[in-house]
Amino acid sequence: RMKVIHTQNELRAYLEAPREQPKKIALVPTMGALHEGHLSLIQQARLKADIVICSIFVNPTQFNDPKDLEKYPRPIENDMQLLSDNGCDVLFLPTVEEMYPDTNEQWHLNLGRLDQIWEGEQRPGHFQGVTQIVYKLFTLVNPDIACFGQKDLQQVMVIQRMIELKNLDIELVICPIIRSESGLALSSRNARLSAEGKEKALILYKTLQAVKSAFAEGTSLYVCQQLAEQMIADTEGVELEYFALSEVRTLERAESTEEGKQYVAHIVAWIEGVRLIDNMFLND
Ligand code: PAJ
Repeated sequence: RMKVIHTQNELRAYLEAPREQPKKIALVPTMGALHEGHLSLIQQARLKADIVICSIFVNPTQFNDPKDLEKYPRPIENDMQLLSDNGCDVLFLPTVEEMYPDTNEQWHLNLGRLDQIWEGEQRPGHFQGVTQIVYKLFTLVNPDIACFGQKDLQQVMVIQRMIELKNLDIELVICPIIRSESGLALSSRNARLSAEGKEKALILYKTLQAVKSAFAEGTSLYVCQQLAEQMIADTEGVELEYFALSEVRTLERAESTEEGKQYVAHIVAWIEGVRLIDNMFLND
């Protein structure tokens, strides 16, 4: 049976015994409204650890728009069922007051440009808010591993950097992007697309795949970039916000490739007023 815990004190007390044994603890932070993508993180955690803790907390400090925060879906009964069906041991479900007793709590972590570029440019302060809550969860749970989805690649790199800066002894597990059968990366936003919109949205995956194979054949980054832009331009009803080929650690646009570095193609496009994001690693 899954245990539901609402306070930090109760969670700390609960974790005392397993920590002594010692059992391997996994943390999966979420904001709820769970789909197969989230559940794959729980399943990964289940495979790698003895105790799986999932948090559901709609973190106010990472929202730019109070309306978005208010409108964020909170189907908690359904989420609890899904978590317990997928092998979650503990659901941590705190209130805002529990996580932010001081409403004016300031936080800044120097992430260089990593929280400024791409998604950070669109959402000032967003990644600082993410690190703020994830740091609280990390120090509270002190997990051996923490699972995050590659879907939000910049978030993963931000958390990785935070782990290094704060010297945390936590293994970051990057879980692959879960897609629909046809290739669309799962996201709660997909529900806002019409059937036709979902069809069109497949161009993101197709573009990433085409660029990956071109890259594997030795095509230059410049030509890969052109190929991607052309594919999107040729698809009616899909508006490109950005497509970039980057070195993974910094996410800065790469001009050329170097031996031993990992590269990624990442894309944001709009379809039917819905902002879609996707990415694919180009090498291992
Ligand atoms: P949320 O958007 O709920 O996402 C929780 C986790 O699920 C993230 O690590 C995200 O990358 C992963 N995820 C979402 N869709 C996925 C997919 N299709 N395949 C694989 N993984 C997927 O990200 C957040 O919450 C918050 O920023 C959080 C880290 C919880 C901090 O508040």
